[in-house]
Amino acid sequence: MAKIYRDNDVDVKILSDRRIGVIGYGNQGRAQALNIKDSGFEPSVANRDDEYKDLAIEDGFEVHPISRIAAESDVILFLIPDEVQPRVYDEQIRPHLNTGDVLCFASGYNVHYKTIRPPAGVGVIMVAPRMIGEAVRSLYRDGLGFPCLVASENDNDGQFMPVALALAKAIGATRFGAFDSSFREETTIDLFAEQMLWPGILKLCLLYFEKLIENGCDPQIVTTELYLSGEFVEIAKAMITHGFFGQLKLHSQTSQFGQLSCADRMAPPELLEQVDEVMDEVCSGKFHDKWAKEQRDGKPNMTRLWQKVLDHPLAKAEAELEALRKIVARSYGAAH
Ligand code: NAI
Repeated sequence: MAKIYRDNDVDVKILSDRRIGVIGYGNQGRAQALNIKDSGFEPSVANRDDEYKDLAIEDGFEVHPISRIAAESDVILFLIPDEVQPRVYDEQIRPHLNTGDVLCFASGYNVHYKTIRPPAGVGVIMVAPRMIGEAVRSLYRDGLGFPCLVASENDNDGQFMPVALALAKAIGATRFGAFDSSFREETTIDLFAEQMLWPGILKLCLLYFEKLIENGCDPQIVTTELYLSGEFVEIAKAMITHGFFGQLKLHSQTSQFGQLSCADRMAPPELLEQVDEVMDEVCSGKFHDKWAKEQRDGKPNMTRLWQKVLDHPLAKAEAELEALRKIVARSYGAAH
């Protein structure tokens, strides 16, 4: 059983005499900096010159160059995209790290694949929210929490884990629970969802659309059924209130029989082989190397794959429903 830390298990005092620097003011950077500030600390913010810097200034932060905040901070939250982290680390952070400094990641990626290797004596911790940045902020403001995974690498005398837990509390995660994890586990869970679970759902949705259209159904009605109705979201919410299987009882008997009797047919042996292959690519680092090469080459496959989905008939049906989608989005936004 994973150890789960909640608010009462964690003391944030360990942060009170440390200078906290947040590098990056994007999805996570903005949410975490504001939450930490509202928790009573005074984080410094670093950002390159771009629109995120303007946003941080609008939010009331003084924004400094990355290397300055790396030099001045005792605890550095490194919150820029994983794929640009290694270069920024080498050029603007590594030269300023001293023994006892703590470098905090919101994902396990670069430490697990050893594309960033901080020197001995520097604390390498992970506080990885399992939540998009926007909701990290909105849940905190609503007095609610969100799960996060915490870890501390090579922390033989256990001095850095309390810092990770204190940060998890300061951003609001321990209101829900901070799970004792590892850089490897976070990376594997994250990449496996991105490469097996979500693409599986994406592909099944497209297949559902294609087959119904082939069988004479209206593309706009099918698109509405697929996601615009919000039933998908309601089912996901019912999983929380009634349980993953318990929510099945909210469906008709016909639906329950259909779902339970067809589930295995949707996972034939060839699919299971693919699932194993994806897991192997994640665990062996093959995916990491493939993605690094794709970036070096200027992302030609990413561009082609995006074009392929934008050319799908579902995109056309969606465009035709744009006016309705905006109405639904407004009422959905108002209700949430
Ligand atoms: P983001 O894409 O929102 O990052 C934008 C920020 O990165 C901006 O401050 C921008 O100025 C800076 N930036 C971009 N390229 C840069 C460069 N070349 N040099 C210097 N700064 C640069 O990043 P996001 O999504 O907040 O991710 C940050 C970390 O949080 C990552 O480790 C990610 O895996 C993790 N994470 C992200 C989640 C999300 O909801 N997006 C959820 C949980 C973890």
